[in-house]
Amino acid sequence: MKRKNGFLGKDILSVDQFSKEDLTFLFRKTTLMKKIVKAGKKSKMLQGKIMTVLFYEPSSRTFGSFISAMQRLGGGIIPLQGMTYSSVAKGETLEDTIRTFECYSDIIVIRHPEVGSAKKAALVSTVPIINAGDGVGEHPTQALLDLFTILSKFKKIDGLKVAFVGDLLNGRTVHSLSKLLAKMGKVEFFFVAPKILRMPQEIKDQLKNRVSIIEAEKLDEVIKKVNVLYITRVQKERFSDLSIYENIKNFYIITKKLMEKARKDLILMHPLPRVGEISTEVDNDSRAVYLTEQMRNGLYVRMALLAATLGKIK
Ligand code: NCD
Repeated sequence: MKRKNGFLGKDILSVDQFSKEDLTFLFRKTTLMKKIVKAGKKSKMLQGKIMTVLFYEPSSRTFGSFISAMQRLGGGIIPLQGMTYSSVAKGETLEDTIRTFECYSDIIVIRHPEVGSAKKAALVSTVPIINAGDGVGEHPTQALLDLFTILSKFKKIDGLKVAFVGDLLNGRTVHSLSKLLAKMGKVEFFFVAPKILRMPQEIKDQLKNRVSIIEAEKLDEVIKKVNVLYITRVQKERFSDLSIYENIKNFYIITKKLMEKARKDLILMHPLPRVGEISTEVDNDSRAVYLTEQMRNGLYVRMALLAATLGKIK
């Protein structure tokens, strides 16, 4: 049976909207995109399409990979980052900015510090909106690339033990990925965080009927058990009192020594940027995927997502 493209013309706001069928569809296309890139082929799939990338918060990977994805498929881009040079600096509302760029482009990718901002943009936009991070809310496309990375290694989700480590309170990547994994199968979660940075209760409430959750503050025992260790930086920009950040920023550091305790089949993931949570001596460990597969998969998944949303794949 041919699977339907459930992404066509849709906004991508939260992982809650994806069905298992959607993901199977998207990941099959992601594998195709990977082949296109690896073969160095020039694709014209999105020729004539233009994407606005509207970023009100800093970004390297998400910004760069969306642009690369569009260009690798032959499309055009309007890259806006920083906003100092756009009318936002003159006090323009988000709604008016969206109304502007829907006139110039076929899809808008937005990153903004406010939770719910992508949804707000989608309410006024006639072109699809992709949420590339709404404050401490969600980061659905990061979760897609993370899930693709995990599936590429383990083939299935059932039975996997996954540790999320670091700023689980403010980290939107862990919010999205934990919800997405719970949807995919019977996983066991280990939420490892200092007390003040624990996973928000509302997310735990959403997860707890489907998966088992163990919360811990120490990593030493947890690291021995898990198949996936997903660590995040402490999100400095979400702290109003920077002295609290300074005290807590180095709470976890993955070192070579700590990795000796981990399983042979572990994968060590990080959405990046890292600011000291993983010592560089770990980078060459074959279990470390954050500087390699994980990042590359971001390009392939976003190529597939743009093509699916714009109706260029069936
Ligand atoms: C993350 C983000 O922006 O949420 N980065 C990313 O998109 N890869 C993680 C972070 O900033 O810590």
